[in-house]
Amino acid sequence: MSDLVTPVIGLIGGSGLYDIDGLEEREWRRVETPWGAPSDALLFGRLEGVRCVFLPRHGRGHPTPPSELNYRANIDALKRAGCTEILSLSAVGSLREDLPPGHFVIVDQFIDRTFARQKSFFGTGCVAHVSVAHPVCPRLGDALETAARGLALPVTRGGTYLVMEGPQFSTKAESELYRQWGCSVIGMTNMPEAKLAREAELCYATVAMVTDFDCWHPEHDHVTVDQVVKVLLGNADKARALVRAVVPALGAPRGPCPAGCDRALDHAIITAPEM
Ligand code: ADE
Repeated sequence: MSDLVTPVIGLIGGSGLYDIDGLEEREWRRVETPWGAPSDALLFGRLEGVRCVFLPRHGRGHPTPPSELNYRANIDALKRAGCTEILSLSAVGSLREDLPPGHFVIVDQFIDRTFARQKSFFGTGCVAHVSVAHPVCPRLGDALETAARGLALPVTRGGTYLVMEGPQFSTKAESELYRQWGCSVIGMTNMPEAKLAREAELCYATVAMVTDFDCWHPEHDHVTVDQVVKVLLGNADKARALVRAVVPALGAPRGPCPAGCDRALDHAIITAPEM
C-alpha cells in the first residue's frame, strides 16, 4: 500500500483576484459546511493536469469585508473539496522601504492583532491547542520562491505579516509600532485563515503582494483605496503567472509533509474521548 498523497491545490485569491485563468475542466460549485457558507462558490479545475480549487476570499466583486468573512467556512469548504495544500494570495501594505509596491513577500510569520473573528474549529466539547509556532509550510514556501524567481518576479523570502482587524487602515502611531516590532507587511485577512488551515491539517503558505507603503512612509502620508487598486491589478497579473508556474511544480504525488502540517492534531486534542 502506498502512503503517497496526490496534491489538490487550494488557491485563495485576495482583492483583485477573482478568477484563475488557464484552468481546464472549470466548474463553479457551491460547497456547504457546518460553519455556514464560504465567501463564494468554489472554482474547480485543473492546471496542467493538477487538480485545483479556487476561492475568491471576499467573493466575486468583493462584497465581504475582512471582519465579516466566514474564515471557518472558507477553510472547511476547501478541505471538503479535497484540498491538501493552500496557497493564499493577499494584498498588503509594506512596512519596509525595501519592499515597495509591486513586490511579493513569501511570509513565514504572522502577528495576529485581529479580535472580532471566529478563530477555531474547536471549543466546548472538544478542546484542542495546535501549534502555530511555524504557521507556514516550508515546502510550499520553497516552491513559491523557486517559481517566483524563475519568472523574475520581485520577491523576498521570509517576513512577518501583521494582521489587523480593519476595516480602517492603521494610524501612523500603529504603523510605526509595527515597524518597531520588525514586521514586514500589514494586511487584514491572513488570520485566522492560517491558524484554521493548521487546525484542518492543511499545508498553507501566503504570497503577500505589496500595494502601498502604509502611512509610516514619509512620501505616502495616507493609504487610499485608489492607490491600492491601481497596484492591485498589476499584482494580480503577476499572481496569475505565479500560480501557473507553481501549481505544476506541486502536483506530483508526495509523502507526508516534512514539517508535519498534515498531522497537526496528533498531539493537540486535550478533551478525553467519550467513555
Ligand atoms: N491591504 C493593502 N494595503 C494595506 C494596508 N496598508 N494596511 C492594511 N491592509 C492593507
